[in-house]
Amino acid sequence: MKKNVLGFIVVIVIALAYYFVNNTKKGNEDVAKSEKVINIGVLQLLSHPALDSIYKGLEEELARQGYENGKNIKIDLQNAQGEQSNLALMSGKLVSEKNDILVGITTPATLSLANVTKDIPIVMAGITYPVEAGLIASEDKPGNNITGVSDRTPIKQQLELIKQIIPNLKTLGLLYTSSEDNSIKQIEEAKKYAEELGINIKLASIANTNDIQQVTESLASEANAIFVPIDNTIASGMATVVKVTDKFKIPVFPSADTMVKDGGVLGLGVDQYQIGVSTAKVLIDILKGGKPAEMPIVLANKSIIYLNEAQAKKLGLEIPADIKEKAEIVGNK
Ligand code: TRP
Repeated sequence: MKKNVLGFIVVIVIALAYYFVNNTKKGNEDVAKSEKVINIGVLQLLSHPALDSIYKGLEEELARQGYENGKNIKIDLQNAQGEQSNLALMSGKLVSEKNDILVGITTPATLSLANVTKDIPIVMAGITYPVEAGLIASEDKPGNNITGVSDRTPIKQQLELIKQIIPNLKTLGLLYTSSEDNSIKQIEEAKKYAEELGINIKLASIANTNDIQQVTESLASEANAIFVPIDNTIASGMATVVKVTDKFKIPVFPSADTMVKDGGVLGLGVDQYQIGVSTAKVLIDILKGGKPAEMPIVLANKSIIYLNEAQAKKLGLEIPADIKEKAEIVGNK
């Protein structure tokens, strides 16, 4: 009897020892696997507060999920400073340096990456209309090496909000950049819905930041309010836009939280940092074996109303209580 018990204990001890040795080995193998540094190439069109927040959200979420820049991942962030020629050069560099995965921040940046590689997975970080820009075949099934996050917003609802805030709106100015595919499509939508809602519009486009002041001045002299879509060039020149519209005492309604903060009055938009967070999640799914061709586009938009109360006050604009109740207040004061 005693012998049996002893024998039993010996067997258990051996089994446990075997289990522990084996498990430690497996654990080490996992660590070894994650010690292979993953190279991530990021291409950003330019710096403006929205795009910088997207990048921050991306890097911080990756870290929260255990992918730390400089440890088990290496991020090569390239910023084209708004220059098309830089985009081409930098895309070429990111691909030839054999990054494992690429991230495009903005439509122009992603288009440029898509031009150089059909194999390396590309994750879109906040691309407004990826199908219309020619990046993917469909939002449900991209069909190629590209997938990611769209930041598009419901333009009809935005126009309805503007109408509610300015009931006697005569002319709504639409200000956008003629070379940005993302903006062109949004302006088409805005035109369509404005007609449906009986809003009279006036279009004004810029080619680059140098045009902003003059074009905004002529638009502001003819409109009682200005709508701006999710537009990179205008986002980077918001200060100039607002300087002009303040002079004319008219409000600007943009489509991104950061642009409201930079002097817009109100916008139905997306939290830019969250675009980065969602982008990181898609990227990790791909690292774990997801195939971009099969991965539907993620919509970042939660239709949050952002209100810059200080700016509304400055313009003497009364925001209806029901809108104010739902809004998230942004801006300095
Ligand atoms: N959606 C833009 C594009 O497709 C990029 C972008 C993301 C952006 N967030 C923004 C532009 C906020 C202006 C403001 O290129």
